[in-house]
Amino acid sequence: PVQNEQNLRSPICCIMGHVDTGKTKLLDCIRGTNVQEGEAGGITQQIGATYFPAENIRERTKELKADAKLNVPGLLVIDTPGHESFTNLRSRGSGLCDLAILVVDIMHGLEPQTIESLNLLKMRNTDFLIALNKVERLYGWKSCRNAPIGKAIRQQSKDVMIEFNMRLTQSWMVKAVIEFLMEIHLIGILSTSSGIGEPITYTRLATVVEERELVDEELEDEEEGSTSLEDDDIDEDDYVDLLCGEGVPDLLLLLVQWAQKTMIKRLTYSEEVQCTVLEVKVDEGHETTIDIVLVNGVLREGDQIVVGGMQGPVVTSIRALLTPHPMRELRVKGTYLHHKEIKAAQGIKIAAQIGTPICVPGREFVEIGRIASIENNHRPVDYA
Ligand code: GTP
Ligand code: MG
Ligand code: NA
Repeated sequence: PVQNEQNLRSPICCIMGHVDTGKTKLLDCIRGTNVQEGEAGGITQQIGATYFPAENIRERTKELKADAKLNVPGLLVIDTPGHESFTNLRSRGSGLCDLAILVVDIMHGLEPQTIESLNLLKMRNTDFLIALNKVERLYGWKSCRNAPIGKAIRQQSKDVMIEFNMRLTQSWMVKAVIEFLMEIHLIGILSTSSGIGEPITYTRLATVVEERELVDEELEDEEEGSTSLEDDDIDEDDYVDLLCGEGVPDLLLLLVQWAQKTMIKRLTYSEEVQCTVLEVKVDEGHETTIDIVLVNGVLREGDQIVVGGMQGPVVTSIRALLTPHPMRELRVKGTYLHHKEIKAAQGIKIAAQIGTPICVPGREFVEIGRIASIENNHRPVDYA
């Protein structure tokens, strides 16, 4: 891969939220895939990983800002399940990300796993965006495929704008979230307002760093009993939402710009391998594959690795290093690209001869969570 000037790795972004708020569908919309409809019961049951190269992000955001400077190689997005039984997977996903998108159904507002996700994000001090999704369900919405949200909003009738605005301002969700603001790292709420009625909170792409100060000011107003979160400079292009692709350009650009502006140190590529196992599968050919997220460092074919096994650490070596094609989901079986070496950040499938220790009979795969240690063979193995 081409080295970028600053030697940054791709930021890792985790998508979280209550079941069926549209997390996977949103990724489908960006990828041009249909992963969601292939899921059993339409429910995500594993962590997913998809790599979005900078070229694709540029293509998708050019209508919003043609000359945006993208310094990172891409964005690695981690999909998580929203069903209540998968708290462990949400925790694992949020534990390995640099920033997150919390997806909320605009018609439902706060739901139990929204709150659980907020708590996970707060616990790890993760910067995140709130995406108010399914906005096209507002009665009378005119779809404007893949448009920046400002453009989509401008095409709506006055009635739609009023309902949109009402859903947001009257929603106790916004208020509850604002109450959280001082303690959690909210970058912005990505959706909102028509410019008629009460203005509400929003995110300004060009000034993401100042944004927090702005939010703080709004909070002070709020504490003084003011009901409005007014700002005269609100540009309609700042309104973001997702749906039929509406708002997707805004979402991608804000994530990348926020990461580039605020996380340079964290995203500077380091040689030290940092890796998390998503899951282990034994396929029909009895080969063991390990799906991982490589957060930092480089992995090479033949590297010796140590993974946490059911009966303790397992030492093995990488027989093949595979990734899905860019813009394709790691957890969906498809054609894989073979690599001699891969640099972080990436979602990777490792083929290894591991044998019995992690293969529990009668079960297709065994999740083992955080890898004990995964090291290149020129460095000492330490899995204490
Ligand atoms: P889990 O991973 O199981 O928690 O669900 P999810 O958050 O990934 O939601 P998913 O993508 O499975 O979508 C749930 C349902 O909502 C599906 O029937 C989707 O078709 C539908 N859906 C998703 N996004 C939208 C949207 O923007 N608008 C509308 N109207 N429906 C949507
Ligand atoms: Mg899903
Ligand atoms: Na679902």
